[in-house]
Amino acid sequence: MWMSVRCVVAIGVLAAAVGLPRALGQEFEREPILYSQSQPDNRVSRLFAEITAGKKQLEFAGEQGYLPALLAALDVPTSSQMLVFSKTSLQRHCISPRTPRAIYFTDDVYVGYCQNGDVLEISVADPQLGAVFYTLDQEQLERPALQRQTDNCLICHGSSQTKEVPGHVVRSVFTDAGGYPVLSAGTYRIDHTSPLSKRWGGWYVTGTHGAERHLGNLIVRGKVVPEEVDNSAGQNRTSLEGLVETSDYLTPHSDLVALMVLEHQADAHNYLTRASFLTRQALHHQASLNRELGEPADHVWDSTKSRIKNAGEPLVEYLLFSGEAPLTAPLVGTSPFTEEFVRRGPRDSGGRSLRDFDLSRRLFKYPCSYLIYSPSFAALPGEARDYVLRRMWEVLNGQDRSEKFAHLSAEDRSNIVEILRDTLPGLPDYWQVSAPAE
Ligand code: HEC
Repeated sequence: MWMSVRCVVAIGVLAAAVGLPRALGQEFEREPILYSQSQPDNRVSRLFAEITAGKKQLEFAGEQGYLPALLAALDVPTSSQMLVFSKTSLQRHCISPRTPRAIYFTDDVYVGYCQNGDVLEISVADPQLGAVFYTLDQEQLERPALQRQTDNCLICHGSSQTKEVPGHVVRSVFTDAGGYPVLSAGTYRIDHTSPLSKRWGGWYVTGTHGAERHLGNLIVRGKVVPEEVDNSAGQNRTSLEGLVETSDYLTPHSDLVALMVLEHQADAHNYLTRASFLTRQALHHQASLNRELGEPADHVWDSTKSRIKNAGEPLVEYLLFSGEAPLTAPLVGTSPFTEEFVRRGPRDSGGRSLRDFDLSRRLFKYPCSYLIYSPSFAALPGEARDYVLRRMWEVLNGQDRSEKFAHLSAEDRSNIVEILRDTLPGLPDYWQVSAPAE
């Protein structure tokens, strides 16, 4: 890489262009969440507290600066690398089909890297605050310091794209040779319900997927996208040779299975945050109503119950993969991501894990999200957690056989119950009582 000038992060300019401060008007900036004013406590903040205290060091090396050391310190596997070449994020000046942005992730942490970028971009699922954002200057220092970022990131990461909470975004856009999204051709927000045919516009994709079609590896010519795009060259690629100089990155992959998992996980975090915030807001509102009206402090209003339901139900559906887009051909990635992800467990006494992949009909063998083990799930307010676990039990024991959960066979339901009984601490007693109905 000969280019020595770092790309300019026009944070101020960007903010001005979209009319900041917008985040100040957000509900999550008020009581009881107080997003920007509250002190985060998550794996990233704790790592940097140790670095500041001189107990840990972060090595700065070569073109990628802090990237390799940061990933190692946070246990984020390099096999999760995905390359996105659309200028859809913060350091857009650095991003193009020749110099894509790399994203790495694990269950709770996401890291963005641009060649010659001024900063590494970090988001983490903070159990209390939802997604919390940081930048780390790519400048060699004795004790590198993390900058917490709020408004600069919330423009995109705290908007309708993230269910109005601080969250994670995955998009698919038609992208031209300069990396510019051709917005007139339509853009998609992607989660596990999105059909493959809409996914990965603006991303490089390595891996095979039979006759399934996707929009990855596609660079559109000009500003008009034809009705029928011919992306045959972009399908079933196992190497990015000829598209990008992969030696500038930690690995030559933009793994298809990593992308599938990211797309499930990002919105799962958003639903968790939404459930947490809406429930805390409802309880906060109820407490002040009770005070004002002289009701006992523990008086529960019907309106609170319905707000908790409204917070919890979409989370139950998402955690159980309701509406998941079916797969019609086996998916195979190119990096060690698949094996490494599965190895993280936990496993039940029969050797089963919620991380076991299916990858031919659907993403996972047992359609219940592994994020049920996350600190964010554990930290849900008791009322929300109780609601979610009770509803999951109703679905899994066969009492709720509604259309939304019709994708779960009797066998799926009993597998999930058995796995959770063995592996999820703190399950309510009623989960132990009866065997799931046939
Ligand atoms: C202009 C909109 C925009 C802004 C501003 C923005 N991002 Fe993002 N970000 C995106 C989009 C879109 C994605 C999805 C991947 C892509 O298209 O590059 C993303 C993805 C990410 C990811 C990967 C996982 C995730 O959370 O979705 C990280 C990490 C991230 N951004 C960090 C940051 C940080 C830190 C800031 C502020 C310093 C920031 N972003 C500001 C649009 C933005």
